[in-house]
Amino acid sequence: MIEVDGKETLGELSSEMLAELVEKKPDAVLGLATGSTPEDTYKKLIKKINTRKLDTSRLTTINLDEYEGLSPDHPMSYHAFMKEHLYQPLGLSEAQTHLPKGDAPDLYEEAERYERLIQECGGIDLQLLGIGENGHIGFNEPGTPFTTRTHVVDLTANTREVNARFFDRLEDVPHRAITMGITSIMEARKVVLLANGDRKKDAMTRLIAGAINEEAPASILKKHPDFTIIADKAALAGIPADVRANWG
Ligand code: GLP
Repeated sequence: MIEVDGKETLGELSSEMLAELVEKKPDAVLGLATGSTPEDTYKKLIKKINTRKLDTSRLTTINLDEYEGLSPDHPMSYHAFMKEHLYQPLGLSEAQTHLPKGDAPDLYEEAERYERLIQECGGIDLQLLGIGENGHIGFNEPGTPFTTRTHVVDLTANTREVNARFFDRLEDVPHRAITMGITSIMEARKVVLLANGDRKKDAMTRLIAGAINEEAPASILKKHPDFTIIADKAALAGIPADVRANWG
């Protein structure tokens, strides 16, 4: 676990991990996340890639999730977020970048296609994660079986309310989404979870100090052989000192 002072260092350390991977393995498969937390990571990654003149032509990116019903050009879609924050600035092609299609005619078939795609790409080298206020990873809400692969989910009322800040009105927030499952995430060779701010305190306390339990989806990550948390003081403020001391 790496404790940082704030967002700036969080972005710096996580972007350095990604940049080093791109440098070492130009055909790496990056598992990426949306949300406000990784915005700085992407900003700094773009700078590092440009400054170090790293080759991105053989990279593949695979994102965690997408809302149901939003086409790739819908401004609130995760497609649009990734395009704006990473794909366009780096000039990544559509063939290199993947997200589930939220406007696919059959969401269940789309989930199966997406899971196959992850396998066909040879698996994910580094999966970047944020965490929801209720402890979700991707859109795997509390109670999601740990055995899931990419699947269709019903978003909880809490998640819709929290994410309403990105939409004009709460009614505009989709009720369902497609997300990589917990097993899909656990199969990534390396997992890096980012958390900052007081808003994430409860979720991080349950992840770190609580039992491994499907009610706390991120808790399973403690079983991953290469799992790193980068979080700021506010997000870690609820963790008892003895638990902190025993964490690697
Ligand atoms: C969404 C995404 C998650 C993300 C979470 C936290 O629900 N599906 O992948 O981790 O939001 O977002 P933020 O970083 O904006 O707090």
